[in-house]
Amino acid sequence: MPTVIAIASTKGGVTKTTTTANLAGILADFGMHVLVMDGDQQPSLTKYYPIVSRAPHGLTQVITRGGLVTEDCISKTAVPGLDIICSDVAGDDNILQSWLKEREDRLFIMRRAVRRSPVLERYQVVLIDTQGAVGELQKTAAMAADRIISPIKPDILSANEFAGGTLAMLRSINAMADFNPDLRSGDLYVLISALDRSKNSREIAEHIRRHFIGQPYVKGVLNTVIPHAAAYTAAATHQVPVHRYDKRRNVENSAWEVMHRLAWELFPELDQIYVDSIDRDEADPREGA
Ligand SMILES: Nc1ncnc2c1ncn2[C@@H]1O[C@H](COP(=O)(O)OP(=O)(O)O)[C@@H](O)[C@H]1O
Ligand SMILES: [Mg+2]
Repeated sequence: MPTVIAIASTKGGVTKTTTTANLAGILADFGMHVLVMDGDQQPSLTKYYPIVSRAPHGLTQVITRGGLVTEDCISKTAVPGLDIICSDVAGDDNILQSWLKEREDRLFIMRRAVRRSPVLERYQVVLIDTQGAVGELQKTAAMAADRIISPIKPDILSANEFAGGTLAMLRSINAMADFNPDLRSGDLYVLISALDRSKNSREIAEHIRRHFIGQPYVKGVLNTVIPHAAAYTAAATHQVPVHRYDKRRNVENSAWEVMHRLAWELFPELDQIYVDSIDRDEADPREGA
């Protein structure tokens, strides 16, 4: 059974896609079989890495078949071990959101997709990127996930939006969970992201830590903080995972170190292992762990 992580926030521009792509990239470099699903109608994750084998279909087919993943929906990226279900909705169309609205089982469609063959046997991790808004796609992704990572940029607007938007969405989808545990979403973890060095940002980050721990639906604030750094944008431009772009070892806030810390925190079985010690073809680090 894969570990399913949705990257979700009702706010745009908080580094959801960047985090999804880079986390997927480093986990694949750890030797894991990783599937990412682009749940944003604006296909930024789909364009993040070069595609070496493009499937004729993508997310539209997976959703409109009620959560059925078939081979013709899975594309291969240039990162070995990293496959993707591409966003394939033309233009700004809200077709999937409105299609989902009509379905009684809308909250379970993505869950079905990630818990059935072939995803079930083939992948150890599934990451679902979502669009920064409230909608049915976001909700079905939150319900499919074991964990939801919600990046927050340490500015007041993002912090407020988080409380008002993301937590409200979780409240609405978990409203019935006390009566039926099947109706429970994944656990939410806040990720402080794009933290710059200003005093103001640091204070807001501290506030986020204190304020959100213990809030309903918030399981925790991740210890790992993603700093604001040019490497993240530059790596995206070069279409490579950021830990391969800024490879400085033993530099506390280099992308190499930060992305390892994030992977270790989410997958403690990887703790203190670096991807350059992994022979992709040889071993899955989690086997025998
Ligand atoms: N750690 C970072 N430091 C600086 N800029 C970043 C960082 N992470 C992402 N960015 C930039 O911030 C912008 C928004 O990121 P993106 O991942 O597209 O957000 P979202 O998917 O939440 O809308 C992009 O231009 C991206 O390159
Ligand atoms: Mg995005």
